[in-house]
Amino acid sequence: MPILTVELGKNSYDILIEKGALKKAAEIFDPDQKVLFVTDSGVPEKYLSEITKQVKNYVVFKTEQGEQNKCIEKYCEILETLVVNNFDRKDCVVALGGGVMGDLAGFAAATYMRGIDFYNIPTTLLSQVDSSIGGKTAVDFCGCKNIVGAFYQPKGVLIDPEVLSTLDKRQFSCGMAEVIKMFASFDKKSFELLENEENPDITDIIVRALKIKKDVVEKDEKEKGLRMALNFGHTAGHGIESLSAKTDFPLFHGECVGLGMLCMSSEEVKNRIKKLLIKYSLPIDYKCSASDLKSIISHDKKSSGESINIIYVDKIGSFEVKKLNCDEIIKMCKGAIDLI
Ligand code: GLY
Repeated sequence: MPILTVELGKNSYDILIEKGALKKAAEIFDPDQKVLFVTDSGVPEKYLSEITKQVKNYVVFKTEQGEQNKCIEKYCEILETLVVNNFDRKDCVVALGGGVMGDLAGFAAATYMRGIDFYNIPTTLLSQVDSSIGGKTAVDFCGCKNIVGAFYQPKGVLIDPEVLSTLDKRQFSCGMAEVIKMFASFDKKSFELLENEENPDITDIIVRALKIKKDVVEKDEKEKGLRMALNFGHTAGHGIESLSAKTDFPLFHGECVGLGMLCMSSEEVKNRIKKLLIKYSLPIDYKCSASDLKSIISHDKKSSGESINIIYVDKIGSFEVKKLNCDEIIKMCKGAIDLI
């Protein structure tokens, strides 16, 4: 199976990527470990049963789908399941699902008995290319996203691109938005591949994106510098996401990241990203109030007058960090989306 290794000293781990890899899932964890599978209602039952039939001793924790489940209450329910079922230090937690499951299950694994083994089996494109590696685990709390969490690296990650065949089209597009983000800021050749190939091979795209992410995480595990570049499009994107959540047509995270990238790019880059957003059925414009967007961005960053580090892409395949205040950010957004 193609393997990438994330080299983090004693916290190093392998990412296994192969079509049909779910059939070999049990190879990633120790067969004597008791396994808690954490999954949600959006994951087709057949994926869970494909894996559980390979495991002797397991418990399933299943929740509903959606970001609202990334909360303290669900986290406590998982801990309770671990206690009631006598999980101990040699056992493990496995997330099977998208980024919400990975963050939630990973945080439970990070804190139960001061940390037990955690494996991630991401089933959305977005989590396969981004959130399943790098060790960010968290729950939302007091209205703040990811405010309680830990950096806790998985013991292994298993990626089966075949599961994407059942992924909702809009979710697939959102994953592509994160792929475009990584290629635009780090990898000109891969960006050009997306531009030039009608139907690029998805396994190849995932591997290319993961190589970028792996490299970034190895250099800056705890996001003290370089890892911030993975937030290209996220400052304006989070603002748009929060505003749209209050409307009848909430946008998904990846859709907002796409719009956020347009706000923080040169004209040339903006036009090229726009073409790819169209290619992958992602929105290229959004109408909202400039003052509402400004107040959300300043609240998010806990800074009204202070400057915020944002990632700006002037040339495909590179990025720069700019220190901007909220007015400057809004001015750039006005050049890209429909602010009124
Ligand atoms: N998703 C961005 C990161 O893992 O840093």
